[in-house]
Amino acid sequence: MPAVVIVGAQWGDEGKGKATDALGARVDYVVKFNGGNNAGHTVVVGGEKYALHLLPSGILTPGVTPVIGNGVVIDLSVLFAELEALTARGVDCSRLLVSANAHIIASYNTTIDKVTERFLGARKIGTTGRGIGPTYADKMNRIGIRVQDLFDRNILQQKVAGALDQKNQLLVKVYNRRAIAVDEVVEELLSYADRLRPMVADTALVLGQALDAGKTVLFEAGQATQLDVDHGNYPFVTSSNATAGGACTGSGVPPTRIDRVVAVAKAYATRVGEGPFPTELNDADGDRLRAAGHEFGTTTGRPRRCGWYDAPIIRYAARINGLTDLVLTKLDILTGWDRLPVCVGYDVDGVHHTEVPLTQTDFHHAVPVYEYFEGWDDDITGVRSFEDLPKNAQRYVIALEELAGVRISAVGVGPDRDATVVRHDLLG
Ligand code: GDP
Ligand code: IMO
Ligand code: MG
Repeated sequence: MPAVVIVGAQWGDEGKGKATDALGARVDYVVKFNGGNNAGHTVVVGGEKYALHLLPSGILTPGVTPVIGNGVVIDLSVLFAELEALTARGVDCSRLLVSANAHIIASYNTTIDKVTERFLGARKIGTTGRGIGPTYADKMNRIGIRVQDLFDRNILQQKVAGALDQKNQLLVKVYNRRAIAVDEVVEELLSYADRLRPMVADTALVLGQALDAGKTVLFEAGQATQLDVDHGNYPFVTSSNATAGGACTGSGVPPTRIDRVVAVAKAYATRVGEGPFPTELNDADGDRLRAAGHEFGTTTGRPRRCGWYDAPIIRYAARINGLTDLVLTKLDILTGWDRLPVCVGYDVDGVHHTEVPLTQTDFHHAVPVYEYFEGWDDDITGVRSFEDLPKNAQRYVIALEELAGVRISAVGVGPDRDATVVRHDLLG
């Protein structure tokens, strides 16, 4: 099973990092294809916790080649800080490859991300403030800085000057900030060039050759389906394609080479930042889920909004991504509830919907329609086979599988790499 894509089914933080890491030893390449250090993946290996932002989760497994694809936006200060921190903990990062076509998050874009949010006030997106949106905007606007530009001082100087021509007007005249000097940015970026150069490769070529040689390549999405710029709840989304199609455009590996698409879904739902979230619980139940699931952002530390599992959202993810498998995570967090509501449709101004509504206005008005399932009390964190789960937990999983129309191939019962009930081999 050579090429497998892993995406998030909901609003991010489903446990993609753990899922990637758990497949680790059987994978040759792990490719990050979208987003940047807005992502936050917590991976727990033998009780040791790792928080990754920019590096693909595969970096924790010896022998895996981690790849940062062309679709990623890179904050170089974060890249090197993360590499240094992992190296200091004994992780071998020497195989990392970085696409020459990936875009760089220049410091002016981090500034613009933050001031734009402040100016939006009540209309803000709740971004991570990492410069993601402005950097992708520059890419589309054809004024972006790419990794390869760092190896040609003249080109870099020209490109930074071109970008700052516009941005300084914006910063000074609209946002009342100081202008940024071209040389300041150029020198900062060049200070990383020598260290970056050995990692830079034609990653599309490397991955194409790896697949020709029968290697196993895992594409790991940042963010998730509902945060995808085309298919999520626009404008409350990130600025990249976090769905399966993004694995192709963001890596240079064509759709015909993808064998399997796996989505990770939490057994309930969470969201960070603004935007519609029909099953959100603004009450003690929401607080209880947040406390049990430690639902605080890996990147910004913000409390995550919590709610019940939303089946139409997962069906939507199945359709948009062409899912072959689901990984259901954090089932252990649902232990101890008398009954578990699952959203099976929405009431929108008196009209029943079984699918995600067409318009943003309708989605904002969507009131969930619930079906209720009986809960369980037994601690399931030590369970490793489906038959050993409490009967009601089994029923919950089977019901979600039927509602999704996609098989649930693995069920997470704890944060550690091994705390998973495997039902079907994701690489088999
Ligand atoms: P990602 O961004 O999709 O990689 O997810 P995050 O790492 O941001 O958030 C998922 C959190 O849930 C992390 O703290 C994981 O360690 C944790 N986690 C993942 N799977 C499970 C699980 O099955 N049970 C429990 N209790 N925690 C899990
Ligand atoms: P992982 O990979 C959850 C959210 C932000 C905000 C919106 C836009 O850990 O699942 P951005 O900074 O990307 O422009 O912010 O997207 N967001 C995430 N939420 N998990 C993530 O990544 C996220 N990355 C961005 O909170 O609402
Ligand atoms: Mg996360």
